[in-house]
Amino acid sequence: MNNKVEVPNHIGLIMDGNGRWAQERGFARTIGHKTAVATLKDLCIYMADLGVRYASLYAFSTENFKRDNKEVDFLMNLFMNVFNKEFNFVKEKKIRVLFSGRREPLPNNVLKSMDKIVEETKNNNDLVLNICLNYGSHAEIIDTAKKLCNMYKNGEIELKDITEDFFQRNLYHDLPPIDYVIRTSGELRLSNFMMYQASYAEFYFPKVYFPDFNRKEFDKALEEYNNRDRRFGGIK
Ligand code: FPP
Repeated sequence: MNNKVEVPNHIGLIMDGNGRWAQERGFARTIGHKTAVATLKDLCIYMADLGVRYASLYAFSTENFKRDNKEVDFLMNLFMNVFNKEFNFVKEKKIRVLFSGRREPLPNNVLKSMDKIVEETKNNNDLVLNICLNYGSHAEIIDTAKKLCNMYKNGEIELKDITEDFFQRNLYHDLPPIDYVIRTSGELRLSNFMMYQASYAEFYFPKVYFPDFNRKEFDKALEEYNNRDRRFGGIK
């Protein structure tokens, strides 16, 4: 990558198209998810090397529980195995892993693998990988509203303390705003992904399915980002 290219501080990645990638090749959808893991690992290493500070990954939405039980079970097992066995690279690259989403109804063994990787990487301060698992923006906003109501009820805050900035800092994690949302597979939707954080993000919708979203495709995304004129509602 050319050194002059500006790298977004916080990237949101909606990893879409795993199932179609597999089906178009005559494979089971699960093969698409497995291939996506390899793509994701390499992309995380690349983002860390390029100096991306935050990456939020949409791994599983609250709505994904409506999928066929077999696929949900497969994905839960995949997540657990990946976090337990295939996440050595996060330690080597000094990547910190966080999770956003509701713990209920995630299986205990998955929660254990998540807690372990969070604990093991808590002192890392290179790329922060925020994995959105059983995540939904609506749920996050409701959960934050409830948290603030409790703080108010307990006398810890006053109504005037609830500013936009305070609300943002009390979401699942205190992360900076998302600069660039990338959704693979050509779908033009946000699908309940980090709506509060992405309110001024630029959007990019490459046609490729996620398993094919390699370094070259990421470079194209960065090039496009550098062509955008970000005004944040002001006039230039
Ligand atoms: C969307 O593709 C993808 C998912 C619901 C799962 C995402 C999971 C991974 C990328 C695996 C690795 C992730 C981690 C965090 C280890 P889809 O199945 O909806 O594709 P389709 O739209 O073609 O059906």
